[in-house]
Amino acid sequence: MKNLKLWEEYTRESLHLSILLTGGIGYIGSHAAASLIEAGYDVVLFDNLSNSDASVHNRLEKITNKKISFVEGDIRDFELISKTLNQYKIEAVMHFAGLKAVGESVQNPLRYYDNNVGGSMSLIRAMQENNIKKIVFSSSATVYGVPQYLPIDESHPLSAINPYGRTKIYIEEILADLAISDPDWKIMSLRYFNPIGAHDSGLIGESPKAVPNNLMPYIIKVAKGELAKVNVYGDDYQTPDGTGVRDYIHVMDLVEGHMAALLFLNNHSGFHAINLGTGNGYSVKEIIDTFSKVTHTKVPYEIVGRRDGDVAISYASVDHAKKLLGWQAKRDLKEMCLSAWKVMSSSK
Ligand code: NAD
Ligand code: UD1
Repeated sequence: MKNLKLWEEYTRESLHLSILLTGGIGYIGSHAAASLIEAGYDVVLFDNLSNSDASVHNRLEKITNKKISFVEGDIRDFELISKTLNQYKIEAVMHFAGLKAVGESVQNPLRYYDNNVGGSMSLIRAMQENNIKKIVFSSSATVYGVPQYLPIDESHPLSAINPYGRTKIYIEEILADLAISDPDWKIMSLRYFNPIGAHDSGLIGESPKAVPNNLMPYIIKVAKGELAKVNVYGDDYQTPDGTGVRDYIHVMDLVEGHMAALLFLNNHSGFHAINLGTGNGYSVKEIIDTFSKVTHTKVPYEIVGRRDGDVAISYASVDHAKKLLGWQAKRDLKEMCLSAWKVMSSSK
């Protein structure tokens, strides 16, 4: 269910503003595109398809019933990104493009620093050169490292435990320095907790190219019979049922948080960082049980050893988001599971 009051405001304020979505063909970027277009924004997608499929572009056009501009390219290509910003008269950027596999970042850190940090540098320089100074950046709860207290608020110390997490901290620091150097910059870093679920249409969703690392896409592959069972990484944590607890948020709620952030930046300069989560924690077992109940599927699982780098419990303090953005998540776990299943059960 949408937050109708916020949607009225999004639609009123959109005024055909032209927004560039880096990583716009990916999971979160494509869902953001659908909502931004629905609210009346003009959207340009920019993606190198390193972790996504061009067919998402067609599906977005089907969902929105509109022609959508798509530039295939890499954000590290300074000339191309600069030309795109200028050509489409872009007024703000939502920066989703990035690599996000934690294990791979440990194996190949340079690829992550180059793509995520180098790519962000190239994008920000191109924005500065074109005098575009409004950006919403996809950060992650991973910047908090091992939680020192719960719920995790935005004042929690930052400490990454892998190269992926460090790229997010470095980019945030670069953006914060930029805001200090030039008060015209309006920067929002959104620290996502665990986005899952999909668009109501069932036409777009999370479809990782490789065997999924994250829990929900893995559960779906098991429910479809493509993988035998979910490996539950540990049941000896200090949690009610021993399995890891996370703050899962519906991707459409997450996207509405981005739209609220865009409105916030209309009247606020400087660097801001805000958590996007629900404030609730669910265990791995609760996710498997709820998924299997609401989708009427069998999800066999086996308890295996803990995964390196996992924390026992992580969930957000959402007070800041409520106070500053007037936004809070609305959709429940059942909706998250059903929407994820709707799109993935029909795809190959
Ligand atoms: P995704 O992989 O589905 O989407 C990212 C998109 O960026 C892909 O389409 C990929 O092809 C593109 N891309 C990557 N590097 C690029 C480059 N150099 N130039 C152009 N395009 C490039 O991932 P997602 O889940 O949609 O994540 C979006 C952002 O949110 C990422 O920055 C990610 O780190 C962050 N994030 C995601 C999660 C999550 O659980 N999904 C959690 C926290 C933060
Ligand atoms: C992981 C990353 C995090 C990243 C986020 C989004 C790690 C340590 N953390 O978060 O940095 O921002 O993805 O990309 O990789 N689980 C299983 N079996 C599985 C998969 C997961 O039991 O096959 C458990 C995990 O142990 C965890 C929970 O499910 O308790 C959620 O895992 P996941 O979806 O990978 O998200 P995070 O670990 O929170």
